[in-house]
Amino acid sequence: MQRTYAMIKPDGVRRQLTARILQRFIDKGYRVIGLKQLVIPRELAEQHYAEHRERPFFGELVDFITSGPVVAIALEGENVITGLRAMMGATNPKDAAPGTIRADHATTIGENVIHGSANEEDAARELGLFFGDAELLR
Ligand code: GTP
Ligand code: MG
Repeated sequence: MQRTYAMIKPDGVRRQLTARILQRFIDKGYRVIGLKQLVIPRELAEQHYAEHRERPFFGELVDFITSGPVVAIALEGENVITGLRAMMGATNPKDAAPGTIRADHATTIGENVIHGSANEEDAARELGLFFGDAELLR
């Protein structure tokens, strides 16, 4: 069964969206196998978003993702990596399809409520950054 890493960003946590986003995953048939709320240390944020290190918005991105608690989620399900990305909608909420999490809840490209791993390699890497094996349901 496939696994992926999802994360409710500080804007989503601040706006009390955690429960309804988790419910969407469960309604979709995915299993929440890991869950924690934490403030991401700056170094971990830089590792998580390492692929964007050279982008002009990298500093802003790290400032934002460390600006308050996030909810880290390990999800399991059939094709959950692409399934989660579909549920999230496009990066810019203006382009996100109706009914997606970002279309329903996000405000700007910088504050877009939710993260989901882009592919299998990122999913494994990001799950490893945020969860130890013993923290996950079997
Ligand atoms: P994540 O799931 O968060 O990785 O989003 P994504 O995969 O849809 O987008 P991508 O990995 O390309 O970018 C990572 C994050 O950087 C996005 O979610 C945005 O919040 C942020 N980002 C992307 N482009 C811009 C930009 O032009 N300006 C700002 N401020 N942030 C951006
Ligand atoms: Mg991404």
